[in-house]
Amino acid sequence: MSHHQITEARRRLHRSELAVPGSRPELFEKAAASRADYVFLDLEDAVAPDEKEAARRNVIEALGDVDWRGSNKTISVRVNGLDTHYMYRDLIDVVEQAGAHLDTVLVPKVGVPGDIYAVDALLTQLEQAMGLSHRIGVEALVETALGMANVEAVAASSPRLEALHFGVADYAASCRARTISIGGLNPDYPGDQWHSALSRMLVACRANGLRAIDGPFGDFGDPDGFLAGARRAAALGYDGKWAIHPSQIELANDVFTPPEAEVDQARRVLRALEEAAAAGRGAAQLDGRMIDAASARMARNVVETAEAIEGRSS
Ligand code: COA
Ligand code: MG
Repeated sequence: MSHHQITEARRRLHRSELAVPGSRPELFEKAAASRADYVFLDLEDAVAPDEKEAARRNVIEALGDVDWRGSNKTISVRVNGLDTHYMYRDLIDVVEQAGAHLDTVLVPKVGVPGDIYAVDALLTQLEQAMGLSHRIGVEALVETALGMANVEAVAASSPRLEALHFGVADYAASCRARTISIGGLNPDYPGDQWHSALSRMLVACRANGLRAIDGPFGDFGDPDGFLAGARRAAALGYDGKWAIHPSQIELANDVFTPPEAEVDQARRVLRALEEAAAAGRGAAQLDGRMIDAASARMARNVVETAEAIEGRSS
C-alpha cells in the first residue's frame, strides 16, 4: 500500500436511489414506503422554473413530516446548479428550516473543485448557525465535460463529499454524444459508449474513499435494458444506480446485492486464508485456485456489503 491513507466516506447502503420531483408531493409517502435505500427530492431538472419555489416549500415540509429515516432511507435533496439564482436559497432555506432531517445534498453539474468548496462553506456556516449535531454530506453529479475533465480534483475536494454520481443524460448533452434514450446504448458504437467515463469516475471515487453511483436509465418500460446497464456498472465496482421510476428499485437492489453464493464463497476465502496464516503461509489454494491477501481484500468488500444489507433488513 501507499504511505498515503485513503479516508473512507461515511458508509451508507446505496444500491438504489429513487428520484422524486419536489413538485409532486403526492409521491413523497410512496417514496418513503418503497424499498429504495436512498431517496432524493429533486429541486433541479424534474421541476419546471415556475414550480421552483413551490417545490422548495414542499421539500422542506416533507423533510419534517415524512419519517424517512424511520423508513430506512437516506434522504437527500438535489439543489439547483451553482449557475442558477435558485441554488443559494435552496441550500439556505432547506438547511435552515429542515436541516436536522436531511442526510445529504446532491449538487448537479459540478465542474470544478471550487463548486464543492462553495457548498461546503455555506453548509458549514448553516450547521453552526443552526446548531446542527450532524454533518450534512455532499454528493456531486459528474455530468458535464468540464466535470469529467476535473473529476479527480472534484473527488478530492472536501471531506464532506460522500459520493459521485454519473449523470448520463446531461453528460451526453455536454459532450454532444449521439444518443437514443437516457442511459441506453447507441448501436453505432461497438460496445458501451459510457464505459470510459464510468470507469474514470469510478477510479476517482475509489482513490478518495467515495461511493460511485450510476445515474438514470430513462426507458422504465425496458427492465432488461436497465438490468444490463446496472450490471455493467456493478462489474466496474459501482455501489448502486438511480431509479427514476419505482419499477427500477428492486432491479437495482438485486444487481447491487452480492448473491448468496458469492457471499458464502467470500467467507470461505477468508476462512481459508486465516487457516493458511495460522500455518505461517500467505497464499493458499481453494478449489484448485490460488488465493492470497488480494483475494482477502476482494472477499472483505463482498462480506461488508452483505452485512450492511443484513443490518438494514433486520
Ligand atoms: N416516486 C414515487 N412514486 C412514484 C414515482 C416516484 N419517482 N414515479 C411514479 N410513482 C408512482 C405513481 O404515483 C404510481 O403510483 P400509484 O400506483 O399509487 O398510482 C406508480 O408509481 C406508477 O407510476 P406510473 O403511472 O407508471 O408513472 P407516472 O406517469 O406517474 O410517472 C414519471 C412517470 C417518469 C414522470 C415519474 O416516475 C417521475 O417523475 N420520475 C422521476 C423523474 C425525475 O425525478 N427525474 C429527474 C432525475 S433523472
Ligand atoms: Mg442532470
